[in-house]
Amino acid sequence: MTSETLNSGKSLNLSSGSNVTSSSLSQGTNLKAGEHISKQPADQLSSGLLGWYAVRNSCGLKNEELYFFSMFNEPLVLYRDKNSRPRCIKDLCPHRGASFQGGQFNSGEIVCPYHGGRFSSEGNCTNLDRITCQHIIDSNYNNYAKKIHLYQYPCVEKDGYIYIYYTGKAKTNLNEFDLKESLDDSIPDSYGFRTSEYAYEEVYVDFKCDWARIIENHLDILHIFWIHGETIPDKDVNRQVITSFNQDITRDSRHIESKYNHKDKSKGEFITLKFIPPGRVLIYKGSPETARYIQVLDHIPLANNRARVIVRHYRKFLKNKFITKLFIFKLLQHRIFYKIFSEDYLVLKTQTFNQQMGYIKKDNIKLLGEDKMIQYYWDWYQNALNKDKPWELHQTNSQTNSVHFDTPMLYPPENPELAKNNERNIVIQILIRILVPIGIVMLII
Ligand code: FES
Ligand SMILES: [Fe+2]
Repeated sequence: MTSETLNSGKSLNLSSGSNVTSSSLSQGTNLKAGEHISKQPADQLSSGLLGWYAVRNSCGLKNEELYFFSMFNEPLVLYRDKNSRPRCIKDLCPHRGASFQGGQFNSGEIVCPYHGGRFSSEGNCTNLDRITCQHIIDSNYNNYAKKIHLYQYPCVEKDGYIYIYYTGKAKTNLNEFDLKESLDDSIPDSYGFRTSEYAYEEVYVDFKCDWARIIENHLDILHIFWIHGETIPDKDVNRQVITSFNQDITRDSRHIESKYNHKDKSKGEFITLKFIPPGRVLIYKGSPETARYIQVLDHIPLANNRARVIVRHYRKFLKNKFITKLFIFKLLQHRIFYKIFSEDYLVLKTQTFNQQMGYIKKDNIKLLGEDKMIQYYWDWYQNALNKDKPWELHQTNSQTNSVHFDTPMLYPPENPELAKNNERNIVIQILIRILVPIGIVMLII
């Protein structure tokens, strides 16, 4: 494993109370674009765009329920088999190509809605008599019927997540997959904190924009001061002042890490960001060893211009379940998350448009010194894209029936209903907390 450490020793030099604009940002920046950017090959990260992805939480995947989603345009289904083990299959019945939408379960086996074909945990058809006549099974079994198997991807449940090993080519026999990367290398516990020591809240968010742009957004420290300056409950993050920091970037075969230290050394680390390909970002408030809270963001490339993010917000404080319930902590946290992602959303959609129009290219934009993390990320992405070409594996075009993608997206900000429900619940819960004690007092009196 090779590694390099870069210390720009430079900082954003905006004084307290100054109004931050994009032009003042460039003026206040001491680095020239490209300065200190590594001479090392840009593709030091060994992982590409194919590999392990966290695609949902495991507690939400119930027995006898189908969870439909997609990866790089390929429709997939998650469910639990007879033994409650998670399975990830291509949403394609191997009999005559129906989707499993509308399918059911029978004794823990998934049943196709078209002819009732039923499939075992291993993906073999267990009731061939539903899809062909018995005499054909008897006479032709080796030629036809025994070849009916579900197409699957390796699927593992770990630390409250469901992970799949996505290659773009589902197989009928899971033993045929050549797992090039260990899942253990990408789980949060291998990146400096024990998840078991933290409590967490979790939200899902859906975006109609480019997947890679969302990751860029989460690796971009500067935007939080402006766009989220009035939403993030942190005194160091506000619109008036950008915290002055030094930046250290490390990268090796498994991740890119950027540490932002307060220029005032007595204050220590401000934030640490890690990018773990293909789709995970960790944001530590402070140093990884002592962070009071840590965000784990998993980015799922559903389809062209469609992406889902799982956001977990781990914290070392307020771990008592009763207290968090009493203070409706979960709902309040969700409100902040929904607001933060809504703030980013318009930018991400319009930036996606600009990208697809070919406007975002080297000559038109300037990456500044503080954008080194972003530069490294795009270096990785470009290399990974050239190597894996994931968007070419399941291409769609204007003729493609868009049945899978016309369905409304499930989560905010694309589907604001959930955020509104959350708001409503907050009001109801607050009223209950006020009215119940008043009622009790009145009864006593
Ligand atoms: S298409 Fe699924 S059983 Fe026929
Ligand atoms: Fe943001």
